[in-house]
Amino acid sequence: MKINAVKGFRDILPPETEVWSRLEDDARRIFRGYGYAEIRIPLLERTELFARAAGETSDIVEKQMYTFEDVDGVSLTLRPEGTASVVRAYIENGIYGREPVSKLFYLGAMFRRERPQKGRFRQFYQIGAEVLGRDDPLVDAELLVMLSDYFSALGLVTARIEINSLGDSSCRPAYREELRRFAEARRASLCADCNRRLETNPLRILDCKEDAEKTRDAPVMIDHLCEACAEHFRAVRERLAAESVAVTLNPRMVRGLDYYCRTAFEVVAEGLGAQNAAGGGGRYDGLVASLGGPSVAGVGFALGVERLVLALHGVEAASEFDLFLAPLGERAEARAFRLARELRRRGLRLEIEPGRKSLKSHMRRAAKLGAAFVLIVGDDELARGTAVLRDMRSQAQAETPLDPSAILRALRPSQTGGAL
Ligand code: HAM
Repeated sequence: MKINAVKGFRDILPPETEVWSRLEDDARRIFRGYGYAEIRIPLLERTELFARAAGETSDIVEKQMYTFEDVDGVSLTLRPEGTASVVRAYIENGIYGREPVSKLFYLGAMFRRERPQKGRFRQFYQIGAEVLGRDDPLVDAELLVMLSDYFSALGLVTARIEINSLGDSSCRPAYREELRRFAEARRASLCADCNRRLETNPLRILDCKEDAEKTRDAPVMIDHLCEACAEHFRAVRERLAAESVAVTLNPRMVRGLDYYCRTAFEVVAEGLGAQNAAGGGGRYDGLVASLGGPSVAGVGFALGVERLVLALHGVEAASEFDLFLAPLGERAEARAFRLARELRRRGLRLEIEPGRKSLKSHMRRAAKLGAAFVLIVGDDELARGTAVLRDMRSQAQAETPLDPSAILRALRPSQTGGAL
């Protein structure tokens, strides 16, 4: 019987994996330039970590976690996001004792038991970055500038950043109460979810698509910020404007995790369907302390890789081979096989197939693979120590010595001074 993948879990196949590699390589390069170092965190954590970090009333903790009991009775959960794990690792390894500021990034799979649809999977991948140890607005702005540079490098022209401030423990409680009173007065007309949120997490009422119209006049946090939060937010936006990083104020954005304060943002992009958030993040100044660490500020983001790929219109053309080796006959095959190894060691991407094929079928394969050049190794040429090198674009061909350096020169004329 055929065995299929689990619902919401999927294979990422070539050539799509080429796009993934490029996204990851660009992230590593650009994030390193901004002073970030990579952290690798486990896939599995104690359930209570996420319950405490993301919040008991968040959708993730309420209904989306893959949780099971280990044989020793400990409740474990496949990580639904990376921030909680990064903060746990930061505390557990005493990083705060060695470094006043830590800038960390991560790439990897996350798991949420959501209803699968376009751009939404149960195993999905995030590229995330976290800064621990800085509460100044400059670092919030720097994070968004870095995101903007990353999108430029990817050519992701439709990405737009929406931003809001969620206040802090000195101004949010009074605002939350005001919002609760507003919703309370309309309780009967609001959906069942919002009625529940009214008790547990009133801010999430602003997130509800169903009731959006009914709560259009609801009070918003940015009109209720305390002096310190207002000043912080103003400084973030001012710095972004100075760097010409366009952000749109979205006063109704609240984010789906409970740890946020002050700066919050989401990245929206075209082509994603209903799931239009390609990423999100913000400040979480109380999280480290609430997980048992010192009072250290935090800010970060995570991008959804599947959604970035969708926004980039998915798959690019298959990556090209530099060279295809076409041996004609068994003696030629042995010589070409050795040559292939030498050229690969020098960095060429090439393919070689058995010598028992006709020239025509070799050429068909070379074209299919998008090879830039084909090296035809026939018996006559082999006897002379040469082969025929054909440029697949211009169709020009010339005899070349069967020597790796000579072949490299012919393939890379601009770098090595040769030409076909
Ligand atoms: P989040 O908004 O829950 O934030 O997720 C970030 C991104 O992950 C989303 O914008 C989306 O692109 C992607 N994503 C989430 N769920 C799925 C899914 N089921 N399928 C495909 N993609 C998905 C966080 O996870 C925070 N930890 C971000 C953060 C870091 N905040 C501060 N630091």
